[in-house]
Amino acid sequence: MEVKSVGVLGCGLMGSGIAQVSAQSGYSTIVLEVSPEALQAGQKRIDQFLSAGVAKGKVRAEEKQAALSRLSFTTDFKSLAGCDLVVEAVVEDLAVKKETYARLDRIVKQESIFASNTSSLSITEMAAATHRPGRFVGLHFFNPVPLMKLVEVTRTIQTEPGVVEAVTSFARALGKTPIQTSDRTGFIVNRLLVPYILDAIRALEEGAGSITDIDQGMKLGCGYPMGPFTLLDLVGIDTTYFIANIMFDEFRERRFSPPPLMKRMVLAGFHGRKSGKGFYDYSVEPPRPNDFLAAR
Ligand code: 3HC
Repeated sequence: MEVKSVGVLGCGLMGSGIAQVSAQSGYSTIVLEVSPEALQAGQKRIDQFLSAGVAKGKVRAEEKQAALSRLSFTTDFKSLAGCDLVVEAVVEDLAVKKETYARLDRIVKQESIFASNTSSLSITEMAAATHRPGRFVGLHFFNPVPLMKLVEVTRTIQTEPGVVEAVTSFARALGKTPIQTSDRTGFIVNRLLVPYILDAIRALEEGAGSITDIDQGMKLGCGYPMGPFTLLDLVGIDTTYFIANIMFDEFRERRFSPPPLMKRMVLAGFHGRKSGKGFYDYSVEPPRPNDFLAAR
């Protein structure tokens, strides 16, 4: 099945990025959110990213306009009825996702493919909420979506081979490199990345070094593009906390358990860049590291 029209569920950090690259790559793309406010925020994020691309000389002004003209926004599930592929990027909460899929399944044409951008939940379990488990896959993008080249394609024991081929071609058409993973919590990348970033928080809690020094250590000592705390602030402390809890539930290994400081940051609303405060304070330029240890 050839994908021509795409629906994107959720217009947060990931959903807006997915919608942007889909529209930039020539697909007619419709984005669904729960409220007009959320839609507006997502629309603004896409516009700003494309404008920054134009300012940097990476995106042509006509390309930006063409991408925007292929995008539409809705709060009505029925608008997605004719999409060939629906990529879901709503909150990492199994109950919310299952309810969303069950609703979507009743509306969207039966031959359409459903793909979840989940990074940790079971694709098989979500597929079970629909009558199309054979047409259900994982399509995991990375943040920031327009810049990161990878997409993890997850097939379950029920996914039809033609469906894997269709979404793999779609990922390539977006200029991404697809890799195949099995339906195991965290797939390939988060299985390795999550213990590393949680360990960075433990290292901070145990006094191994400051936020700045740990970040510099991994950046300059290992050539990582950004240190673990800058990355946590980019991905979202809350998002990473949800992912870690899901992975801990699955594997029951300490390396996936969220450290106490992380839980307190989530409760306090320190969610990273998007909330203006995380391991760094973004109200000043350059962002200043938060001195959590002084509060202990
Ligand atoms: N439009 C188009 N291109 C843009 C752009 C825009 N708005 N903004 C930047 N670019 C281009 C730049 O021009 C540059 O291109 P070049 O390499 O050809 O010169 C390139 O993108 C890099 O941009 P910058 O130079 O401005 O920024 P950096 O060099 O600091 O890179 C980064 C930014 C790509 C985010 C890099 O820091 C990085 O790779 N960080 C790690 C991110 C990461 O690990 N993400 C994965 C998170 S895990 C995840 O998402 C999974 C989830 O489940 C948790």
